[in-house]
Amino acid sequence: MDDLKAKYLGQIAEAADEDALEAIRVAAVGKKGEIALKMRELGKMTPEERKAVGPALNALKDEINAALAAKKAALADAALDERLRTEWLDVTLPARHRRQGTVHPVSQATEELTAIFAELGFSVAEGPRIETDWHNFDALNIPGHHPARAEMDTFYMHRAPGDDRPPHVLRTHTSPVQIRSMELQGAPIRVICPGGVYRADYDQTHTPMFHQVEGLAIDKDISMANLKWVLEEFVKAFFEVDDVELRFRASHFPFTEPSAEVDIRCSWEGGQLKIGEGDDWMEILGSGMVHPKVIAAGGIDPEVYQGFAFGIGIDRLAMLKYGIPDLRAFFDSDLRWLRHYGFAALDIPTLHGGLSR
Ligand code: DAH
Repeated sequence: MDDLKAKYLGQIAEAADEDALEAIRVAAVGKKGEIALKMRELGKMTPEERKAVGPALNALKDEINAALAAKKAALADAALDERLRTEWLDVTLPARHRRQGTVHPVSQATEELTAIFAELGFSVAEGPRIETDWHNFDALNIPGHHPARAEMDTFYMHRAPGDDRPPHVLRTHTSPVQIRSMELQGAPIRVICPGGVYRADYDQTHTPMFHQVEGLAIDKDISMANLKWVLEEFVKAFFEVDDVELRFRASHFPFTEPSAEVDIRCSWEGGQLKIGEGDDWMEILGSGMVHPKVIAAGGIDPEVYQGFAFGIGIDRLAMLKYGIPDLRAFFDSDLRWLRHYGFAALDIPTLHGGLSR
């Protein structure tokens, strides 16, 4: 009995891993193990012998089981210690370049245009994406029956049954921020309002959520000439070209009078878009002199003040500048796309430091 005990406790102490322990368990206390065999021999013994040997075998079995359990716990502790020793992380190390996040082209374009307009004296204003029907439409001279409401494929927010107030909408453009900025700041005012907008539309150049930047300049002596100069300066700076020709086409928007859509001269040679040269024109924005009704809706006297406004698609600008063919990919969160088209996080665009190196 003492030999058995010494043999197995010795083996258990030496066992290097759980597999070895299991082999010892089967050999010692398993159903066909050595102790089971010895138990079977009890039948051949005298009652006196049995009384002595039986309990001793049981005690040995218990002791070996206890030793097995203790060793198993010790091995698990050692394994954990080993993991803690090897799987450490030095948080003071610089981030690995490969793993660094990138700045999304929409954020990059927004940073760039913000830097440009800041230089032109425009500050940044923001408004809510869930907007009142009034700010999104009525205040912009788009009354309830106006076809522009239908054209915009508006998402309406749900109202509780019995609540008859006009619904809130997901803003369909950034123009309502014109109204909110005038309400807040009064005149004179010079702001740009970048942000997300929503329309129920989906194809290669449309997504249900996209981005616009609104511009608004109100003062006593602002004219269409100021609008033209500002937009030309902006387009040259944004596309990083020395000269650019813009074409102002008469158009119609409810919130401006007169209104103009603006095209930019470009070429498409070999499928490659070049801004500022060639025989083609591409529409990039809507603009005009702010309608007196809109100025009044913003709480400013249209007899004293006038100004211009414009609205540009930011995603569109990013597609053009960075040669990204499909708008839908912008919002798929595909890491390969983000790494390919994304920008280094620490290159903050400035006019003096370069917009998009
Ligand atoms: N809100 C228009 C749109 O979403 C864009 C626009 C056109 C904005 C003319 C303006 C403007 O401020 O003057 O299509």
